[in-house]
Amino acid sequence: MTTLPSKKGIFTASVLQNRGMGAQFFRLSLELEKRANAFFCAASAGQFVEIDVSQLALPVEKLIPENLADSSQRNILLRRPFSFADIDSSNDCTIIEILYCVLGPATLRMKTLKTGDTVNLIGPLGNGFTIPEEKKSAILVAGGMGAPPLIHLAKVLKKQHQDIEITAFVGAKTKNDLAFFDIKTDKLKKKPDITLHQFAKHNIKTFISTDDGSAGFKGFVTEMLKNRLGENKPAGAETIIYACGPEAMLSATAALSGEFKIPCQVSLERLMACGIGLCQSCAVKCKDKNGGDVYKLCCKDGPVFWADEVIWE
Ligand SMILES: Cc1cc2nc3c(=O)[nH]c(=O)nc-3n(C[C@H](O)[C@H](O)[C@H](O)COP(=O)(O)OP(=O)(O)OC[C@H]3O[C@@H](n4cnc5c(N)ncnc54)[C@H](O)[C@@H]3O)c2cc1C
Ligand code: FES
Repeated sequence: MTTLPSKKGIFTASVLQNRGMGAQFFRLSLELEKRANAFFCAASAGQFVEIDVSQLALPVEKLIPENLADSSQRNILLRRPFSFADIDSSNDCTIIEILYCVLGPATLRMKTLKTGDTVNLIGPLGNGFTIPEEKKSAILVAGGMGAPPLIHLAKVLKKQHQDIEITAFVGAKTKNDLAFFDIKTDKLKKKPDITLHQFAKHNIKTFISTDDGSAGFKGFVTEMLKNRLGENKPAGAETIIYACGPEAMLSATAALSGEFKIPCQVSLERLMACGIGLCQSCAVKCKDKNGGDVYKLCCKDGPVFWADEVIWE
């Protein structure tokens, strides 16, 4: 019996750039050691890496936000999962881009990474989004900090599936929480029009919502999506929805997928420890074939699931 090489590995990556995008959002570009090319060249949008941040220093005291002062002192024993927002495996080297939000002790330490520093990571992990052959239209739905894997997916769809028309729906609490996007304002128009550059550069029509109405539609991204689906009534056989964001948003998107009979894939988040299916800390309750339920693992069976296989609670 031939043993197939493992599809994931542990690698060293050097920091090319770690740039702030507003107060809490950062774009981290990492160049992986050459050995990683064979593992990452076939990685798909939706997969992720687990980064070891245990050796990283904290920022100086005055740069630690008050709300993280206590938790910042915790030891970081576990690696942290991050989706790729982009992978470039050309020219015999692999560069991955991670978009992260500073939320706690690990991401606070990641802020201190500078060009030339190295980190250790495991990847590529989990499964990615599937792109069925017959689809003519893809709807991307990003809520809160759920944009990174969808930014990557948008690039893949544009490059490899030019015949698929893409529309994006992006929601946040306020305009300032529109995470990870370089927001461009069209100053030529009388009423300023916000363009999310990372989708606009691929000519992807994007609808924005904010809970407080500070940009775009006032309300939840799923309300805006429901309105558009009601107006356009896309054919379910030709359309697919891809969503990533908070669980409540994914659950509402899954309900719309059922109502409008459009297949939908969701990228779920769970607190993860091992990232490779050993510790069982990332369980997702799913339907089994006999109408009962079964627990799958977000790190190994996911993070991407079909919306109708998940039991939403
Ligand atoms: C598959 C996957 C992909 C991810 N991709 C990204 C990404 O591209 N960019 C990004 O910024 N973050 C991403 N995350 C979340 C990221 O892993 C966490 O924000 C990070 O681990 C926080 O570490 P911390 O020590 O800074 O904060 P912690 O102290 O660990 O967490 C701070 C707060 O965030 C909550 N939190 C932490 N992790 C999660 C999680 N997985 N789901 C829900 N709440 C959580 C905690 O409950 C706590 O309230 C991803 C998570 C998963 C599972
Ligand atoms: S994180 Fe350990 S099994 Fe998923």
